[in-house]
Amino acid sequence: MNTLFDLRVRKESAWIEAVRKTIGEPLDVVSFDERSINACMGCWDCWLRTPGRCVMNDPMSRSYPAYMSSNRIVLLMDTAQGFISHRSKAFMDRTIPHYHAYIAIVDGECRHAARYSRYPDLVFVFDKRGLSDREDELIEAYLARSAAHYRSKAYRLDPDGGGGLRLLKPARVPERSEAGDPAGSMERLVIYNGSPRRKNSNSGLILDRVVNALGDRVEIRDLKKREHWDRWAEGFSSESHVLFFMPLYVHAMPSHVMAFMERLPASEGTISFFVQSGFPESSQSHYLEAYAGLLARRLGRTYLGTAIRGGVESLQMRPPEGRDAMMAPMVGAIVRLADEGRFHPDDLERLARPVRFGRTTALLAGLLFRLGTNRFIWGPRLKQNNAFAARSDRPYAPRKGFAGQPADEWRG
Ligand SMILES: Cc1cc2nc3c(=O)[nH]c(=O)nc-3n(C[C@H](O)[C@H](O)[C@H](O)COP(=O)(O)O)c2cc1C
Repeated sequence: MNTLFDLRVRKESAWIEAVRKTIGEPLDVVSFDERSINACMGCWDCWLRTPGRCVMNDPMSRSYPAYMSSNRIVLLMDTAQGFISHRSKAFMDRTIPHYHAYIAIVDGECRHAARYSRYPDLVFVFDKRGLSDREDELIEAYLARSAAHYRSKAYRLDPDGGGGLRLLKPARVPERSEAGDPAGSMERLVIYNGSPRRKNSNSGLILDRVVNALGDRVEIRDLKKREHWDRWAEGFSSESHVLFFMPLYVHAMPSHVMAFMERLPASEGTISFFVQSGFPESSQSHYLEAYAGLLARRLGRTYLGTAIRGGVESLQMRPPEGRDAMMAPMVGAIVRLADEGRFHPDDLERLARPVRFGRTTALLAGLLFRLGTNRFIWGPRLKQNNAFAARSDRPYAPRKGFAGQPADEWRG
């Protein structure tokens, strides 16, 4: 079975016909609107409490059996602000339950261990129109990278260009943009907090320290508070200096951050980014870093750079002194940003270490994860949640001879 998810706002049929022509039948077409996919809220329950199952109950979670029993998943995506739309990004984020919290190292970088023995191929369909060449390349590289993490082969289908499938290979990391000239001391800095977590947010802890250090020079705007989005987006042009601080979600921004960014008008001022992530190596964030520079250009703002820091999921597992030691350089980099109007290159370089694992470190880290993190950190947390016995569950593994979930059982 092949399943097509139409994630676009305007569901024109021409693309669906192009897909049918290329990959043939059977093709189950599923239309997802704004209410079909809630944004991932970073609860980690699908890893540590209900292994393999998302706690949300929406058409997206009800589509998981179809996802896992398809040979190919075709995703029709809109683009917005030079990236995939927030709805498309939400789809990518909400695919995470099909993988373990357990970590494996592949080519010097961490990946989530596979929960299932096979995964569908992913066919991405999006329009080049409205994108610069660099944006188009970045999206393609991002999708190829995410598919590789997801153990899926990735293809792009250009519905206007003959309709063939083109295999996407995880390619080189996209070029990053140079930061502009320092803006000088900032009287006021608005920081958008992009963590979707309702509790125990690492971003929240770090930003509390930033407020302690910068006092009323800084205003934190928590993007979970959607009721303020209209006002914040309207007032965006009058803010001279803005910083987006966010956790990395599947190599890019959490989908609600993208939804907010989609609303932003071009305006004067500066923009900078801080991305913190779970895996230790900062190379995880290179795609988002590359996008940050392109977004700054779209918005017409002076780009002051992107700080990236890996390993932050361990923050709350550390003793108080360990937490302080981990947060101090992150807070320090933001204070310098506010004082000097730029990220200091030394801060960026230090925060980004390790960029990726060398061969020997990869071997050692692999061993450490297998014998340490996987066993002594995730194991006890699964046990605490009475979920240890279910840790290897494959709730959506296709049954023998099963040709897919009858659509009306899960469609919203
Ligand atoms: C859906 C999802 C996707 C994630 N993707 C990545 C990733 O691609 N690379 C990474 O290093 N960490 C990834 N993480 C881990 C988060 O970036 C990390 O836990 C972060 O510290 C959470 O910050 P917060 O508590 O402020 O939300 C992901 C987490 C979730 C829930």
